[in-house]
Amino acid sequence: MSIKLNTHYLESFIRPHEYAQIADQVRLADKMLREKTGPGNQMLGWIHLPENYDREEFSRIQKAAEKIRKTCDVLIVIGIGGSYLGARAVIEYLRSPNYNLLPGNKPQIYFSGNCISADAMNELLKLCEGKDVCVNVISKSGTTTEPAVAFRVFRNLLEEKYGKAGARERIFVTTDRARGTLKAFSTEAGYETFVVPDDVGGRFSVLSAVGLLPIAAAGIDITKLMEGAAAASRAYTNPDLEQNDCYRYAAIRNILYRKGKVMEILASYEPFSMMFNEWWKQLYGESEGKDLKGIYPASVIFSTDLHSLGQFIQDGNRIMFETVIDIADTGNTCKIPDDPNNIDGLNFLSGMELDDVKKTAMLGTILAHVDGGVPNIVIEVSKRDEFVLGELIYFFEMACAISGYLLAVNPFDQPGVESYKKNMFALLGKPGYEEMGKELRKRLNF
Ligand code: PA5
Repeated sequence: MSIKLNTHYLESFIRPHEYAQIADQVRLADKMLREKTGPGNQMLGWIHLPENYDREEFSRIQKAAEKIRKTCDVLIVIGIGGSYLGARAVIEYLRSPNYNLLPGNKPQIYFSGNCISADAMNELLKLCEGKDVCVNVISKSGTTTEPAVAFRVFRNLLEEKYGKAGARERIFVTTDRARGTLKAFSTEAGYETFVVPDDVGGRFSVLSAVGLLPIAAAGIDITKLMEGAAAASRAYTNPDLEQNDCYRYAAIRNILYRKGKVMEILASYEPFSMMFNEWWKQLYGESEGKDLKGIYPASVIFSTDLHSLGQFIQDGNRIMFETVIDIADTGNTCKIPDDPNNIDGLNFLSGMELDDVKKTAMLGTILAHVDGGVPNIVIEVSKRDEFVLGELIYFFEMACAISGYLLAVNPFDQPGVESYKKNMFALLGKPGYEEMGKELRKRLNF
């Protein structure tokens, strides 16, 4: 595997017998998952997705992506939560957070329908002016308000610009195979549709059409991404904790949680990981934060955040552990230049690679944080490419499932997300919510 778990910096926090004692629970979690006897067992399609996917649809995704790349200057990807975070994470990680600004990148890719902001909407509409636009709307339920509203806005834009028939050629829909408003609407309008598999939840769906179409539209090799994930799916099947880095990560999280470490900070040293961190936070937050339990997932980009959150991590409330992503080869180099006058006193760094300075910063930070009482898990990633990212995605998905079962929650539902939705519908006067609306208005005094 191109991913290695380094537990060296945990030695003062976890004793050997603690691994031994949780090992049987891990075996049980693995059994529940593989034999589909645990909670949420109807949502396990992601386990075999990297090998067992619809080849015909995969080639349609590649064709649609080619068409988008040929005919559009701008692709608007509409979706929220698990329906957009994975695609955005992969595009920014493999291409760049500045992908849209860099020359030669066509189409530009913008994400919409992931908030409720007139400002964000108007800005995107402006960015589309004078450009050829395509839309990929992604919603499993087909009823989520944020993407539904954004789709209405961009559908209007496309129909005004290209007419109904022209718009049809530029709208791609990813939704449930058969159910939901969006599916019914697409069938009637004749849009090309792709499927969110029934047994794959939003936050586990990046390796389905949900993530793959926008990712392929960014020119990323989705075959290699799937091959990497497939390699990981074969590698992480041994329930023996000592033989399985992925399961060991899940076990360590729970050992630390049971000692009061209720927050995990995912730390990366590369700004291109920022959206990957967001994807990871949703995966773990929505899977584990329930039944009054869960490890709160937070994230930082170092060394940037060493100058904001560094103080708290070093010296504040001791509630957290860190998981550091260490990417050996990012595909870029930059040497620090020499200055004969050495006015800034930096010549001790002359000729040094920036990556080596970064590595030193990372090692120094790990030691400082460990000294400050923060357990550090290090995930060593060999390089930054499609294959290895596929492995990393699968690593975190599988670890999340095992960890959720160790925590005794259902990692595959999200009942808490419904509460705000119901209140919002009631207050907005959605048919069927009238009584609830009256109650809420009373509580709000209007
Ligand atoms: O992970 C999840 O299940 C959620 O984050 C959903 O992806 C999110 O709520 C969007 O739902 P939908 O795709 O039905 O619009």
